[in-house]
Amino acid sequence: MLRGLRDLDVARRRVLVRVDYNVPLKDGRITDDTRLRESLPTLEHLLQHHAKIILVSHLGRPGGKVVPELRLDPIAQRLQELLRRPVTKLNDCIGPSVQSAIAQMHPGDIVLLENVRFYPEEEANDENFAKELARLADCYVNDAFGTAHRAHASTYGVAKFLPSAAGLLLEREVTMLSRVRENPQRPFLAIVGGAKLKDKIGVLQDFIGKVDAFLIGGGVAFTLLKAQGARVGSSLVDEKMLDEAHRCLKTAREHGTEMVLPQDVRAVRESAVGAEHTIFPAREIPDGWQGWDIGPQTIQLFQEQVVRAQTIVWAGPLGKFEQPPFDTGTREVAQAIARSGAFAVIGGGDTAAALQREGLAGAQNIYFSTGGGATLEFIGGRKLLPIEILRKG
Ligand code: 3PG
Repeated sequence: MLRGLRDLDVARRRVLVRVDYNVPLKDGRITDDTRLRESLPTLEHLLQHHAKIILVSHLGRPGGKVVPELRLDPIAQRLQELLRRPVTKLNDCIGPSVQSAIAQMHPGDIVLLENVRFYPEEEANDENFAKELARLADCYVNDAFGTAHRAHASTYGVAKFLPSAAGLLLEREVTMLSRVRENPQRPFLAIVGGAKLKDKIGVLQDFIGKVDAFLIGGGVAFTLLKAQGARVGSSLVDEKMLDEAHRCLKTAREHGTEMVLPQDVRAVRESAVGAEHTIFPAREIPDGWQGWDIGPQTIQLFQEQVVRAQTIVWAGPLGKFEQPPFDTGTREVAQAIARSGAFAVIGGGDTAAALQREGLAGAQNIYFSTGGGATLEFIGGRKLLPIEILRKG
């Protein structure tokens, strides 16, 4: 059980709220504001209690220095629109200027600190930096589920120095995802896509022996196929990961976890990208061709698995979904999930955004998590320190 907002006295107090406003931006504009919207219930609760709200978030990976394009001004702007009240964006996150701005706040005021990853101390979970953040407030609320797999100063360190609690989003994510982590109904499927095996290998390892089968698509599939000796043409392969891929396939076999890899792919000619596309057997892609989506036979195979499943976790698109017709695999498998009786968790900004666009957001059996890596690590059974520190007792 987590300490929640009901356990924290926030009335008229300064509340430091860690949110995950790491949202996709294009030309300085937010292309998906889901994470902002999902933080609103916690903010409304704090506003009802006349708290002084001090928001802290990261954006992107600035590597511990100021990167002008990763300042949080567009986020403050959008949040202001969503809340219909002023949000004051500060240009730093600690120090005298921030302290003095906070000293002038009234109950119900909201400030947004600057991108906390402009300081290398954030990712290093530096104790003095965490204390500097803690000095700004009377209590701390963590609502950044998407960053719960990072034990950084603003997600973890600071909780040691202030009375702290989980926000409503973090609590909801933990409740929903615990259903899958603790008692998944079987058959339990993990659908894994996305560009790189490097980003997903940890998930595969965590889930081997827990799920009944993996359905693999996206770039991830080609590295695994190549490790099995398939000819994948010029498809995306993580050459450095081939040994790892081999080990992963072997461990899955030993644990009796089925690895369902694509049987066919929709491929494009490398020299005329997008202009010409053809279906090839996934193990016999000619040189000069790149697989960009799973093919019709694979879609059918995945749909058959989905129909039988009771629990599904999905991370990463199965093809280059931003460019039709290479969205077909992702879309058709998603529609099969919406029609199925399975409880499905969809994590990762990209997949969730694509599926929401396809109108699946309202499907009753699908839970869209705001986390990507955090969702998978949590369901995979890892202990996430920023969550652990908020447990009662
Ligand atoms: C995410 O989008 O997964 C989180 O905000 C964490 O971002 P990170 O992978 O850069 O730590």
